[in-house]
Amino acid sequence: MKGIILSGGSGTRLYPATSVVVKQLLPVYDKPMVYYPLSVLMMAGLREILIISTPRDTDRFRELFGDGSALGLKLSYAIQSESRGIADAFLLGEDFLDGDAAALALGDNFLYGDGIRTMFQSSCRLVLNENRAVVFGYKVREPQNYGVAEFDSQGRVISIEEKPAQPKSKYAVIGFYLYPSDVVQKAKALSPSARGEIEITDLNQSYLLENRLSVELLGRGFAWLDTGTHGDLLEAGSFVQAIEKRQGQKIACPEEIAYRSGWIGTGDMLTAIERYKNSSYGQYLKEILDE
Ligand code: G1P
Repeated sequence: MKGIILSGGSGTRLYPATSVVVKQLLPVYDKPMVYYPLSVLMMAGLREILIISTPRDTDRFRELFGDGSALGLKLSYAIQSESRGIADAFLLGEDFLDGDAAALALGDNFLYGDGIRTMFQSSCRLVLNENRAVVFGYKVREPQNYGVAEFDSQGRVISIEEKPAQPKSKYAVIGFYLYPSDVVQKAKALSPSARGEIEITDLNQSYLLENRLSVELLGRGFAWLDTGTHGDLLEAGSFVQAIEKRQGQKIACPEEIAYRSGWIGTGDMLTAIERYKNSSYGQYLKEILDE
C-alpha cells in the first residue's frame, strides 16, 4: 500500500496567513501542519508517499522533505493545478500508485490518540485482504461541516453524505481514507459535483453501493481537530503544547517514528539534529538519540 497526502487548496478562510503559503505548511504549535498527517501514515507503516500541492507550493514541500530518505521514506511530488476535488488525488496519483492500494491523508487533518498505530495497521490489512475501502468516523458536535456517515441498528454504514443540511448522525468522516487497488478506476468513473469537483464522498458512496465500505469508529480517546479557522489553529496548537509540555514527548515527530521503526540510523538523526540545532525540536531529537 502507498500513501498520498493532499495539501492543496487556496486556504482563503485563513487569509492573509495563507496569502503566500499553503495552509498545510503553517505551524501547529512547533511544526508544520503536514507533519501530523505524515506521521499518521508513517505509523501505519507506509513508506512510499506522494505529496500533492499547488503549483506555487509543491517546491516548498520538496525543500522541506527532499526525496524523503532522511526520514526513511521514498517521497514523490505532484502538482494539482486547480482545485478539482479530493478524489482528483487518485487521477494525479495514478502513475505513482501503479496498481497498488492507497491511503489518502488530507494534509490539514490533525489526528492524535494512543491507538492510531494498531488501528491503521489493522485497517490496512482489511483493505489488502478483503478488498474493501475503510474510512473512519468521529463523533462531532457539528457534523454538517463534514462528510457524514449513517448507520443501521447493527452499526453497518448505510449512507454517506457530504455536508448535509440535516445530518443523519453525529459521525463525521475524517480525512484519512484507505482504498483497495481499484481506487483509480473508481475515481475516474466519478462525475463532478455541482461545485465542479470530484468528491471523496462520491468515491466512498461507490464502494458502499458495492457493499465494500467499512467505517471504523474512533472513540472519544482520539482527538481529531479542525484547522479550518484561525481559532481552530490556535486550539490545535494549544492542545499540542499542553501534551508535549506535560509528557516531554513530541506529537508527530517523523524523525522519531523513522528512528524507532529502524528506518533511519544514528547518522540521519545527527544530520537532523544539526539542521534543527537551535530549536526545541533539535534538542528533542538529541534526547531520543541519547536514550
Ligand atoms: C473534506 C471532505 C469531507 C471530510 C473533511 C475532513 O471536507 O469533503 O467529507 O469530512 O474533508 O476534513 P473539506 O474540509 O475539504 O471541506
